[in-house]
Amino acid sequence: MTTEQNESYHLSAPLRFDFDSAANKANPFPLFASMRAAGPIIPVKLPFVGKGWVTTTYDATLAMLKDNAAFVQEARHAGRSGTAGMKWWMPRSLKLLTNNMLLKDEPDHRRLRKLVDQAFRRRCVRDMRNNIEQIADRLLDDFEGMDEADLANAYARLLPLEVICELLGLPRQDREVFSTWAKTATSMRSSFGILRAFFSMSGVINYVRDQIEDCRRELREGVISDLVRAEEDGDKLSEDELVSMVFLLLFAGFETTTHLISDSIVALEQNPEQKAYLLADPAGRMERAVEELGRYTTPVQSTKPRYVARDCEFFGQQLRQGDIVMGQLAGANYDPAEFDAPDQLKLDRFPNPHLVFSSGIHFCLGMQLARVEAQVALSRLYARYPNLVLAAPDDIEWIERYGLRGVKALPVRLNALRVRQAA
Ligand code: HEM
Repeated sequence: MTTEQNESYHLSAPLRFDFDSAANKANPFPLFASMRAAGPIIPVKLPFVGKGWVTTTYDATLAMLKDNAAFVQEARHAGRSGTAGMKWWMPRSLKLLTNNMLLKDEPDHRRLRKLVDQAFRRRCVRDMRNNIEQIADRLLDDFEGMDEADLANAYARLLPLEVICELLGLPRQDREVFSTWAKTATSMRSSFGILRAFFSMSGVINYVRDQIEDCRRELREGVISDLVRAEEDGDKLSEDELVSMVFLLLFAGFETTTHLISDSIVALEQNPEQKAYLLADPAGRMERAVEELGRYTTPVQSTKPRYVARDCEFFGQQLRQGDIVMGQLAGANYDPAEFDAPDQLKLDRFPNPHLVFSSGIHFCLGMQLARVEAQVALSRLYARYPNLVLAAPDDIEWIERYGLRGVKALPVRLNALRVRQAA
């Protein structure tokens, strides 16, 4: 689609793009380029959210994220009621999950974030890298003797799950509960899907409540206990806030990291010269490489919806109070005005001011953890299996969901070279 850069649009007449097609998931660059060609902020119709504006360029996305006075998370601060994507008929217990910092404006956001930030930092700085290495090695041990494995489900998915459960202080034997819940929750694509997910989620809500109760009775290692104990300016978390916080940490920190790891493996296998460059000096090159793999794959393609707080003009468009706006992080990360040859994976790219973890007051709380997880996951995997190859390179199945880019499965041949030599 080509349109004049400064054409004025109306939210009532959204432009049409095929966000979820397999082709666009496999190669997202043309889709985001065509949106950018239509203007820095354009109206679209989004699955589940409905009509809303999306930013398409680096400058517009960053400006939107930084201006938390003009773009707010809470509908009531923009003259509306409800929460984007949440319908009136949804059960109260599901709505309580929206009681978290990502969906709050100041000063509530600051209060909630400060409480968890403290608990989180204390845990993360404390030698989490060692723990993550041990978890990665243990998961890789399970591949011993196998020629093929599904790295998405048996590695990229389990590693962040183990890490976040350990961080929260959940008993090891219960981790499967979360895994099952997260799978259902992340397969929601419609109101009906949400309702279906609710039934599986309500069990987990009760489980989280029980865990919090247990921690209240007897403190244990982990962020849940830290939060129970936390007292910040005399302010404690309410029960609902605490449940919602645990869900946010789990949800925000689990699937996102899974996709970063899986997508990075796909990107490396599709760019063998870049893989060779990385494996020539993994210790020296991994940090910068993960930044670029994050930018190139942008597993979280879009932010959550914000509302326009008051009528304003923004990058040439007239926005009305209450309009929904989403920042397209992928649009920003693939913008040639900011990144030279954005559709190329250049593991030595520097500087790399990507927006993988968003920006502004809601920038990702877990970004350091996610970075370390990805660095460790790739280092340990390729140290053991440097010759692995995708088992079905032309048949990668992408998750069809707006805003996320990840694979459903990632079958690989672990010892491709050895197998070839033996043949
Ligand atoms: C590759 C992995 C990850 C990616 C790409 C990612 C991305 C993001 C993005 C884009 C946002 C902002 C959303 C918005 O502005 O609407 C965000 C927020 C957040 N992330 Fe992450 N995230 C990752 C991993 C994690 C991890 C491991 C945790 C914690 C365990 C975490 C916790 C959070 C929290 C709590 C917020 C909300 C912060 C706030 O509202 O102040 N994330 N993340």
